[in-house]
Amino acid sequence: MISNILEIKKYLAKDFIKKIFLLTGQKSYKESGAKNIFDKILLNKNTVTYYKKEYIPKFQELKKIISSLEKFNPDLILAIGGGTVIDYAKIANCLSSNTSSDQIKSGALKLKKKSILCAIPTTAGSGAEVTENAVLYLDKIKFSVENKLIKPDKYFLLPEFVVKSDKYLKASSGFDAIAQAIESFLSLKSNDQSANFSIKSLNYSLSNYEKFIKFPKYENASNMCLAANLSGKAISIARTTAPHAVSYPFTSLYNISHGHAVSLTLSNFLKFNYVNLSRSENRAILSKKYKILFNLTKTKSIDDFCSYMDFLKKSAGLESKLSNLKINLDSALEKIISGINIKRLKNNPIEINTLDIKKILNEIK
Ligand SMILES: [Fe+2]
Repeated sequence: MISNILEIKKYLAKDFIKKIFLLTGQKSYKESGAKNIFDKILLNKNTVTYYKKEYIPKFQELKKIISSLEKFNPDLILAIGGGTVIDYAKIANCLSSNTSSDQIKSGALKLKKKSILCAIPTTAGSGAEVTENAVLYLDKIKFSVENKLIKPDKYFLLPEFVVKSDKYLKASSGFDAIAQAIESFLSLKSNDQSANFSIKSLNYSLSNYEKFIKFPKYENASNMCLAANLSGKAISIARTTAPHAVSYPFTSLYNISHGHAVSLTLSNFLKFNYVNLSRSENRAILSKKYKILFNLTKTKSIDDFCSYMDFLKKSAGLESKLSNLKINLDSALEKIISGINIKRLKNNPIEINTLDIKKILNEIK
């Protein structure tokens, strides 16, 4: 599953690829080392480059990307970057420039694929290269575009790009991969196949996450790329649960990186699910899943397991107290609650209400 530059060169040399729309981020393109490589590879191609500017995918910028795409009409869209770049490419490839904000809000979208999409992630990661959904923020609220059409046609995992991402990005995106694997494993939508992807993903991430952040090398970056990719495959089937649902307002209102925002409440929700096991319709299955998670993390109890998750977060340098992130929960609580993604909340193995969420947010105040 890990690729090399030669394979990409071979792929891009194909005859039908004459016009390439390169979508990337100025900083990540250069710092990942992708610029050095692709400047040469794309020399003989008719290429238009769009450098995304926003930190998270926003509707206004998406419209600009769609307009450039429609004007150029490429044979291939090459998305080289993190989750924002890949999500932009996935949505822009299927929506027309006439799409209104109302259509995004209502979900009544007309999707039509324009080009072949090839994704090369520079973070490990959201697994966006394999998922059928993408995130878009409109008026600081998170929306999801979900459709088979938006899934990239091709992807290449190149650890040599990922190893150079900055420390905070490694910590945040790596934690996203861990959280996605755990959440999808516990999700009401999980099945044998998604559970298998989750476990495989955790086997890679749990033994490489710390090393990848503190001593990044090609090998641990490769393993984190695989962990992210497998977590993407798992969430494609089982989706995410409460920690993701609650994370979105922290990203849209306070610019907290996605994986970091998810990490804020992960262990609190893991504990909430466990202490409320008796409320589960499939108590035996959920209890068995927790035992598997304890085994994977070499822990013996729920407190032990949550401490382990907190330790991972702390050693990665991810701040967990809202006050230290300059978030005043008392004044922002209602705004945060209104930005929560209800759809993802419904996948949680234990039913959660607003009071439960407020209690959990107060725990991380
Ligand atoms: Fe995620």
